[in-house]
Amino acid sequence: MKIKNICILGGTGFVGQHLVAKLAFEGYSCRIVSRHPQRYRALQVLPAVELVQTGALDARTLEPVFADCDAVINLIGILNEAGKEDTFRHIHVELVDRVVDACRSAGVPRLMHMSALNANAGSGVSQYLRTRGEGENRAHTRGGASAAVTSFRPSVIFGPGDSFFNRFADLLQLAPGLFPLACPDARFAPVFVGDVVAAFAKSLEDKATFGRHYDLCGPRVFTLKELVQYTAKTLGRGTRVIGLGDFGSRMQARALEILPGKPFSYDNYLSMQIDSLCGKNGLEELGIHPTDIDTVVPAFLGSESQRQRYQELRTDYWGFSRSDSRRL
Ligand SMILES: NC(=O)c1ccc[n+]([C@@H]2O[C@H](COP(=O)([O-])OP(=O)(O)OC[C@H]3O[C@@H](n4cnc5c(N)ncnc54)[C@H](OP(=O)(O)O)[C@@H]3O)[C@@H](O)[C@H]2O)c1
Repeated sequence: MKIKNICILGGTGFVGQHLVAKLAFEGYSCRIVSRHPQRYRALQVLPAVELVQTGALDARTLEPVFADCDAVINLIGILNEAGKEDTFRHIHVELVDRVVDACRSAGVPRLMHMSALNANAGSGVSQYLRTRGEGENRAHTRGGASAAVTSFRPSVIFGPGDSFFNRFADLLQLAPGLFPLACPDARFAPVFVGDVVAAFAKSLEDKATFGRHYDLCGPRVFTLKELVQYTAKTLGRGTRVIGLGDFGSRMQARALEILPGKPFSYDNYLSMQIDSLCGKNGLEELGIHPTDIDTVVPAFLGSESQRQRYQELRTDYWGFSRSDSRRL
């Protein structure tokens, strides 16, 4: 399948910005659909990138946006519900139906869908994971009737601009020597955003990936406590991370979910009751060597000299050949 024009929903987010940079430098034209295109003018300096605003995201408004696109990539997802419109069901299931319907009426032959590791409509342990599973199923069953569909199911994603290491770094800067951590034993295999976007780019025109679901993981498994300790060490802070037991973790979730921005919620607590690890790593299937946190995290979180190194390599990173992104 030959693809030239790609429409990206969620292209302004953390993964989206890395993906758009990758695709633009590979010569694709990217149209990003955003609720607030005016906030992301910097993206337009990339070659062949266009930002468009739509009203409500429904099949009627999306169809003309998709009209001349050869592929649609849907990256929209939320970690917490935030009001009537931003519910898990609306974003992860109903919106997927609308995207699929708009692809069908606009004649888009290729759809790539972002899901999450452990997403499962029937047995997902949280509302987040159940709705993600349902949306992923619908992308394939409903969408598969008219388009070639591939979905990606990453563990937690890290890289410049992430909301995992950066979030913990911000919290650790505020912590007075002790850091109480919910779900300290939850296990993750953090996956580099450069590898995630490489998986999308490699699959785009590759028939062997049509109809497939790829779990995406990094090369090493960590508990949440180890990752927070790693963050503190990278920041040069001697903060002591105190793992909370199950009761304390549930109480912390209940307390933090009523704060603005919901830094942690009961549904997040439920999602962490299952390890976020891959059985079979889709990155390896796609011929992508998974990048370790040590190669990248100190470069955006660490000391001034480490960050300078990142600045020097940044051009390579945005221009990314595989060897360049591995050097980071
Ligand atoms: N980051 C991770 O560790 C991780 C792990 C597993 C799976 N994922 C999934 O990967 C995808 C991308 O993640 P990310 O970290 O890049 O997310 P992100 O930074 O929060 O970006 C998501 C984008 O979706 C759009 N969006 C959010 N809420 C929306 C709404 N209610 N209606 C319409 N658009 C909305 C936003 O675009 P505008 O504001 O421009 O409209 C935003 O740029 C998500 O589906 C996420 O669930 C992420």
